[in-house]
Amino acid sequence: MSIKIAPSVLAADFANLQSEIEMLNASEADFIHVDIMDGVFVPNISFGIPVTEAINKHATKPLDVHLMIVDPDRYLEAFKNAGASIISVHLEACNHLHRTLQAIKELGCKAGVALNPHTSVQLLEDVINDIDLVCLMSVNPGFGGQKFIANTYNKISQLKYLINQKGANTLIEIDGGVNKLNAPLLAEAGADILVAGSFVFSAENPFETIKSLKNI
Ligand code: DX5
Ligand code: ZN
Repeated sequence: MSIKIAPSVLAADFANLQSEIEMLNASEADFIHVDIMDGVFVPNISFGIPVTEAINKHATKPLDVHLMIVDPDRYLEAFKNAGASIISVHLEACNHLHRTLQAIKELGCKAGVALNPHTSVQLLEDVINDIDLVCLMSVNPGFGGQKFIANTYNKISQLKYLINQKGANTLIEIDGGVNKLNAPLLAEAGADILVAGSFVFSAENPFETIKSLKNI
């Protein structure tokens, strides 16, 4: 199975969002990663529901919505209605993660859990069979363009072990600081999906950059 690529529109040109989305539609991207930041869970505000709807209006690829917000249960339905195919919530933002995962699935979305760099994958031991995707943050969430944290490789191994041990079908997504140097190593370590923001959108040719990541 080849690696899946999810370019993050956080690094796109917001004033030309339609053409950025059309470029992603034509590219080898598998998903469009949509970063929602509330200025509370993370120290930055990105965009919200109307912009997600606008992205969805033009996108022909599934939206992978990453909620970096407190108490995400309040907004699951709104993001489903805005076009989300995958909704990922942060473990650190949920008091009742199992309930939240069921709520995402009841909406007909794939359920993802994101973990901050300091959060152990072992905390997912009792819910791994309920999770479609684990998003391992390889930077502290809040900003694009940060440096990749190398401990992520260990976390991929631990998570892969847990998934196999429990007979789960969970996909492993890596988010933050992904580039052409670490992408082959991440794929080799067991990642299924790579999110890439600045590496794609600050490249001279984002379309070709997606292709090169896809074909590592
Ligand atoms: C960080 C976001 C990431 C970000 C990745 O909080 O969750 O998805 O857009 O951007 P890069 O690839 O630039 O690190
Ligand atoms: Zn993200």
